[in-house]
Amino acid sequence: MSDGLGQLFVQGAFMKNHLRIAAIGTLLLAGNDVGLSHAETGREAWLRYAPVEDSTKAQYSSLPAGVVALGDSAVLLNARQEVIHGVRGMLGRTLRAEREVPKESAIILGTLASIKTVVPSLTLPEIAKDGFWLAHANAGGFRHLIVASPNDRGVLYGVFALLGKIARGEDISAINEVQQPYGPVRWVNQWDNLNGTIERGYGGPSIFFENDNVRADLTRVGEYGRLLASIGIHGCTVNNVNANLRVLLDDFLPQLARIADAFRPWGVQLALSVDLSSPQKIGGLETFDPLDPRVSEWWRNRVAAIYRLIPDFGGFTVKADSEGRLGPSSYGRTPSDAANMLARALKPHGGVLFYRAFVYDHRLDWRNPKNDRARAAYDIFHPLDGKFDDNVIIQIKHGPIDFQVREPVSPIFGGLRKTNTAIEMPVMLEYLGQQKHMCFLMPSWKEILDFDLQADGPGTPVKDILAGKTFHRPTGGHVGVVNVGMDDNWLGHPMGMANLYGFGRLAWNPELGAETIAGEWIRLTFGTDPKVVRTIASMLLNSWQTYENYTGPLGAQTLTDILGSHFGPGVEASERNGWGQWHRADEKGIGMDRTVATGTGFAGQYAPAVGKIYESLEATPDNLVLFFHHVPYTHRLRSGKTVIQHIYDSHYEGAEKAEDYVIAWKSLEGNIDGQRFNEILAKLEFQAGHARVWRDAVCNWFRKISGIADAGNRAGHYPERVEAEAMQLEGYVPMDVVPWENSSGGKGIECRAPAGCAATFRFELDAGWYDLEVEYFDQNNGRSRYRLFLGDQLVEEWVADNHLPARKPGGDSSSRRRIEGLALRPGDPIRIEGIPDGDEYAALDFIALRSKR
Ligand code: GCU
Repeated sequence: MSDGLGQLFVQGAFMKNHLRIAAIGTLLLAGNDVGLSHAETGREAWLRYAPVEDSTKAQYSSLPAGVVALGDSAVLLNARQEVIHGVRGMLGRTLRAEREVPKESAIILGTLASIKTVVPSLTLPEIAKDGFWLAHANAGGFRHLIVASPNDRGVLYGVFALLGKIARGEDISAINEVQQPYGPVRWVNQWDNLNGTIERGYGGPSIFFENDNVRADLTRVGEYGRLLASIGIHGCTVNNVNANLRVLLDDFLPQLARIADAFRPWGVQLALSVDLSSPQKIGGLETFDPLDPRVSEWWRNRVAAIYRLIPDFGGFTVKADSEGRLGPSSYGRTPSDAANMLARALKPHGGVLFYRAFVYDHRLDWRNPKNDRARAAYDIFHPLDGKFDDNVIIQIKHGPIDFQVREPVSPIFGGLRKTNTAIEMPVMLEYLGQQKHMCFLMPSWKEILDFDLQADGPGTPVKDILAGKTFHRPTGGHVGVVNVGMDDNWLGHPMGMANLYGFGRLAWNPELGAETIAGEWIRLTFGTDPKVVRTIASMLLNSWQTYENYTGPLGAQTLTDILGSHFGPGVEASERNGWGQWHRADEKGIGMDRTVATGTGFAGQYAPAVGKIYESLEATPDNLVLFFHHVPYTHRLRSGKTVIQHIYDSHYEGAEKAEDYVIAWKSLEGNIDGQRFNEILAKLEFQAGHARVWRDAVCNWFRKISGIADAGNRAGHYPERVEAEAMQLEGYVPMDVVPWENSSGGKGIECRAPAGCAATFRFELDAGWYDLEVEYFDQNNGRSRYRLFLGDQLVEEWVADNHLPARKPGGDSSSRRRIEGLALRPGDPIRIEGIPDGDEYAALDFIALRSKR
């Protein structure tokens, strides 16, 4: 049984609602070709092909009855099958799979050249590789619908575009449209380990590997290939950039060939991350010096062995001299020495080499105010510009640090004029809520791609540099770090899939607006109901801003625990260590001085017109001011607010907005299938609670260190809370939470008695209806149980098992349970019982009582 159906059965067993069980039964019988209106797992993502409304269906009545592929490549035959699958799902008609053009109207799929042979009168448009043409053509008295491209893969992309139009109810009766990619490279990286775990993966175990081998069942790999193809992605590096040496061993290559086979029908090329020290570690050489001829010979032989098994192998991704990975610096060699050596091994076979610019010293001396990790990529790679071979692509994270919620665009994009570049984007949301929070990144990515680095005066936006247009490079483009897993919904949060969809769409066409992308994705994922589209779009489009508001302000980075999970708040975690993610907050002020005049000089790595803006405190946009300048808390921003008041206000705004998402989502009950409705509701509830944890941690930390109160008198004042440590305790004992700001009052209570403990308080407010919010700690090393009583009435019980990245009480584990609409009278005893499990001690922080409006 596939995981997807397994999960449905499990959930079905708990469902009391007979209707839901009936719906699941229908799903099991009908398989994948049915629009799942009652329960959907998200596995089909935006390729559900749900039945279109009857009113919309009519406009497709003249769609031909047959579909023919002019050729027999796996990609073309797959394209034909996809048309049949899609039309069947959406329009309830099963098209005939024709072997040749029939004597009636047909949908004809083929390369431009092959279509010309069957419709000789056709004037062909100019189309770049992977681009496609959707049009009608008359031949032999029939009107055909054609999907044409210079190459097979482009035909497949055209098919997905055509089906997407039908899914969104768009008119195709007179279609005549050419679409082509903005740039050549549209790849994804997966950080999968061979043992089946995924570094920074939040959607379950690897779809590729388990137990140090390739999985026996690669069904999900094929499904992933289909998703990738549908958004124009044509390459996937399948293993962690912190690469396992084993991938290059003889016994592993045939296994990898199976992954390539699963991807091939979707036009997705397999690529590998490799460890530069492989010749020494597994190759029997005493060196891995890239300039040693024995080393290059070793790589040539390995590459040849790969291509014997995988003729369309894409190439290598390399992380070297970074975060403990070995690299050319071991021999005093440069990244270009290493990159070219590998690129030359790949070149005869058509492979490319992605060399990551994420190279920096993670043992920087934090005491030296001139040290700056942000400078590293430019300092290391700019002097090598022009030294890289043409099949090398330097893969650069969008900002100079590491996928933080707000960073300036990395200046090295403007500093490599004679080198191919690709941008690396965090689809997986490592520093952005890890799929427990909704954070739609298109508004951020649009800003980045549109940012004018002014490399040759105005008019050199990042998107043009990546496409090779600005510096006339042969290749370049986009790489998304995705990290899908075996979970049905792939990434761990249904809303997170909007980032994968959007990544592909922007890589294909960076001119698309964030609203357009959101609208497309919502219609394909949740249907075309205007209320659904409007509501979800309004949530997605400001979710990045919201996340920024309740986490890291003004370019000071995400303020997360960078030494641990990268998930919850950890304001001080970045300081006084070598990782270089410093914000330098102290009693007087905050921010990194990166100016040329008085700071690290990072601002000088930009073209003068851009550098001038960041050099000036007045000219730097507020949202990056702390990235470039160290200022007192009382510094007035361009908005007119002081820095400290901005910190308070933005955090309160952000947390409030997160609450609004819950309300907005609830308004869609009945408009979305129950399964996804409930799943997303639970995610949004968690996010709203965790946003408050973030808000309080950041506000209280800055309030303490700055000594300046919140003018709104909110931070540090929580009249609605009863602290757990102030309750009457039976078995529970108070404990300190470290760091203090990650819990209310710096303390909580924990229960070390296996049979359980209790904490009680008396309700002393006015009689009325109240919502209760229990703040508890949900770790991943136990499944504690909680029960809440009003008098002796059991009101609520739950288990703490949300799989959060935490092994102790704190900002990563702090969670909220909301109990709505409880009638309370003065003197009512409220009692909460906790039963610990494993190393999780049923810990509690506080209970908040909110009068119901
Ligand atoms: C981040 C991330 C690591 C990853 C690294 C990289 O630091 O936390 O898990 O290996 O980026 O991109 O190489």
